Amino acid sequence: MTVDVLADHAAATARAAADVIATLRTHPRAVLGLPTGRTPIGVYQALSTAEIDWSGVRTFNLDEFAGIPPSHPSSFRAFMDAHLFQRIALGPEAIGFLRGDAPDLAAECARYDAVIDAAGGIDLLMLGLGANGHIGFNEPAETLSASTFVATLHDDTRRANAHQFGGAWQAVPARALTIGMRHILSATRVVVVATGAAKAEAVAAMSQGPLTPRCPASWLQTHRQVRLVVDREAAARIR
Ligand code: GLP
Repeated sequence: MTVDVLADHAAATARAAADVIATLRTHPRAVLGLPTGRTPIGVYQALSTAEIDWSGVRTFNLDEFAGIPPSHPSSFRAFMDAHLFQRIALGPEAIGFLRGDAPDLAAECARYDAVIDAAGGIDLLMLGLGANGHIGFNEPAETLSASTFVATLHDDTRRANAHQFGGAWQAVPARALTIGMRHILSATRVVVVATGAAKAEAVAAMSQGPLTPRCPASWLQTHRQVRLVVDREAAARIR
């Protein structure tokens, strides 16, 4: 794992964006894995103003809340539409997303694994980091899931996502669909972006702690090509 420590949040997101843009320039048919959350907003802003040929690119988002349609203003799909998809020339057929309102969630998870496999897997996966060490919605637990699955969210994760739902954490669905560890660990390259003091503990556990399902991000230590992009605050607990 290479670690880039930048001065602040803006510098960290600019570095991550530069990495994605460079990849898309050399690999115009890349398959991107994309996160939501407040951290990548600056990355999406940079991607939407950069000169990029999107015509051959495909994207797969990591996760979506269960029980709400893509048109719901608090869905991750709505977030991605607002921050990236409506600002770039990427057709709807190139955008992969889990449907939180699918009638059969298990079938929806299986469908998603199959379409990512059919695309050849993820070339460049960008990840945020939960303060509790989650990636996507792979939450700390006794065991992890390889496949895409329906996760039960911890209350602290629902609190961390309350801003998506007007501030009330009880309004955040208690379940979400998320890709599992297989598509994360089999991505060709992974870029993790984490900023702010609230992420310092998780950054240290992820990069230097034991491999444990109690910190899903720790499994990224087994991956050959992970770049961790942090600001000074998030790097504070790295030894
Ligand atoms: C959510 C997402 C994660 C994301 C995390 C961190 O829980 N499912 O993919 O990494 O939020 O969000 P933020 O960047 O707002 O701290």
